[in-house]
Amino acid sequence: MDLHGKHIVLGLTGGVACYKAADLARELIKAGATVQAVMTASAQRFVTPLLMQSLTGRPVATTQWDSSQPNAMAHINLSREADAIVVAPATADFIARLAQGRCDELLSLLCIARPAHRCGLLLAPAMNREMWAHAATQRNVQQVVDDGAVVLGPAAGEQACGEVGDGRMLEPHELRDALIAHFQPKVLRGRRVLITAGPTFEALDPVRGLSNRSSGKMGFALARAAAEAGAQVTLVAGPVHLPTPAGVRRVDVESARQMLDAVLPLAAQHEVFIATAAVADWRPLSAAQAKIKKGAQPGAPAFELTENPDVLATVAALPTPPFCVGFAAETHDIERHAREKLQRKRLKMVVANHGPSTFGRDENQLMLVDAQGTRELPAASKLSLARALVLELAQRLPPQP
Ligand code: CTP
Repeated sequence: MDLHGKHIVLGLTGGVACYKAADLARELIKAGATVQAVMTASAQRFVTPLLMQSLTGRPVATTQWDSSQPNAMAHINLSREADAIVVAPATADFIARLAQGRCDELLSLLCIARPAHRCGLLLAPAMNREMWAHAATQRNVQQVVDDGAVVLGPAAGEQACGEVGDGRMLEPHELRDALIAHFQPKVLRGRRVLITAGPTFEALDPVRGLSNRSSGKMGFALARAAAEAGAQVTLVAGPVHLPTPAGVRRVDVESARQMLDAVLPLAAQHEVFIATAAVADWRPLSAAQAKIKKGAQPGAPAFELTENPDVLATVAALPTPPFCVGFAAETHDIERHAREKLQRKRLKMVVANHGPSTFGRDENQLMLVDAQGTRELPAASKLSLARALVLELAQRLPPQP
């Protein structure tokens, strides 16, 4: 319920992607928002106000000449109630009209009339790729961004006209997540954050290897939370099947050594390094080039192991390291072990949890250990904990130069 208590004006302008706006309305409501749909005349040629009214439980606003409003000022009433206005789809024509400040129909009128300091305007463009690429559209998009609007997408892909390229509206769940992100406090604005996540996989032969039960969910949740808070995030991920959070740059690796090779050159470019990855402590001394066959030798094969590099400790030992945060998955004496890791690896903070009760799950419970003391973050979803952790982190970071 990340949009609980938020009132959203959902504007529809005339494009094929109007059919996705119906789904978006449902996504926003499922996330706890109340939704007021506003439709232009062109939008009503694609889907009916009746559909949007049925989904949102509110009559759709379609005209500024609405005498049923006691003050006859639909544009003022709608924009004063809203926590944000989302226009999805936003056509090339609508963006052009916004860029010019035209107010001759309800939706553009209420966008212009909104109190911009407390009611954000998010636009989800949807149009043919040539229309999107046209100099006039690009000029107008730049203008509305300069005027304070947030442009979401568009994505590339197949278009209703049969062509392929930029101009597809983002999917409803992506727009919902962008709106959720819009409401998060921007405590990491301008910060660069590097995160490792997931397990590593250490090959024994081309088909087998050593790994662990880390799902990567906590690290991916942190990457999302940091991006929502305004950070530029790079996520170095071991082998996991999780979608990349919006706006996050992802580098995929497999083994601990690959993770170190990816992280080291990036470390100098980031102010914060958060190591959530469950890096395998050991790897086979040598991996077989071909699959090890069962009958090739009597009995089971024996593998000699060698120690992997410690990615976090290596970064923390750099001459000018980023602000280093470690994770500790423990089974017992959690605080003592976390404090020991804080000192041994020379970290600024250790986030400890009970490993076996969190691997693969969506919830977790964290203990933050640093030089100042210990703080517990009670059981919650990994995303809620990640957001709480981002707030804690922001308070501890040195001021930006
Ligand atoms: N870590 C790392 N590289 C390694 C091992 C650990 O970057 N080769 C990081 C993890 O991402 C985590 C922190 O170090 O942030 C602590 O990991 P953990 O496995 O709990 O600590 P270890 O040093 O391996 O100690 P132990 O396994 O004995 O508890």
